[in-house]
Amino acid sequence: MKATPNDSKAPPSPQPLYVRIDRIRQETELIRSYRLVALDGGELPPYEPGAHIGIVLPDSKTRYYSLCGDPNNRRQYLIGVQREDAGRGGSRLLHGSAREGRFLKLVPVRNHFSLADGDSHLLIAGGIGITPLLAMAASLEAQRLDYHLLYFVRSEQDVAFRDLLAPFLVSGRAQIILSSPNHAPPPLAELLGTPRPGRHAYLCGSPGFMDWIESHLLDWDPTQVHKENFHPATARPGDTSFTVVASRRNLEVSVPADQSILHALRDAAVLIDSVCENGSCGTCQVAYLSGKPEHRDSVLTPKERQQYIITCVSRADPDEPLVLDV
Ligand code: FES
Repeated sequence: MKATPNDSKAPPSPQPLYVRIDRIRQETELIRSYRLVALDGGELPPYEPGAHIGIVLPDSKTRYYSLCGDPNNRRQYLIGVQREDAGRGGSRLLHGSAREGRFLKLVPVRNHFSLADGDSHLLIAGGIGITPLLAMAASLEAQRLDYHLLYFVRSEQDVAFRDLLAPFLVSGRAQIILSSPNHAPPPLAELLGTPRPGRHAYLCGSPGFMDWIESHLLDWDPTQVHKENFHPATARPGDTSFTVVASRRNLEVSVPADQSILHALRDAAVLIDSVCENGSCGTCQVAYLSGKPEHRDSVLTPKERQQYIITCVSRADPDEPLVLDV
């Protein structure tokens, strides 16, 4: 089990890394790519496909972005940032203030979206969700493993990273699927194929996109479906309030339908560290002792979910208090 800042034996935080913005490119109307290089022009710390880095922005908050270049190229980190006008402000800050030549402070690479051991890999991206899957495709190609990349976009103008995609498109390893009310519904069953041992699916995109794709993967073994979601957590229709118990304080806290466990506990002065607040970094993980959690993160494995909950996104059965080890 990995340690998190909420474990009493958590290791000291790794040192931040400073990089220079070497190139900014407008990929689509909303997406810009940023190529980051070491200050001395040398190699950067290695990373595995699916990993992300944190960028410490001028508001002192850290935002996480998937690394989308070839992991074998140690001379650059490449990220894609989609401007979210209704988001938490990180993308607006980067689009507005980052310039070529400027320095950025990074928190080191983390990976909760690794490639699994398997003989076939289906990479499924919706929009900006293409970023980690590009790194995976590059790694699978280098290892000569079987893979296919499905990239869903609303229109041709929304296709980002055309240069990175080009070889995969030419070899038939990738395909772009136009998916919007203006297009005929894609033949999803045919595109996704059938599950079998050794075949893994990887999903990255908006919550709505992931729900849509997952609804077509119900006959897959959940351990062979891997997900990454960098969008802010939002309440879902049908969410209700429920109760959590902070057992070490003997405190009962009501979690309203539109609030996370993390924030309900904070309001009750039970402080849990958090970073991404969208279920993708694992910082806010805590153990639970009883109750029926509804897991909505993209971090924990099925085994970890028997013991831990990600408090920034997950919820619980309203008929039974969720007792947390906090
Ligand atoms: S704060 Fe990142 S998973 Fe909860």
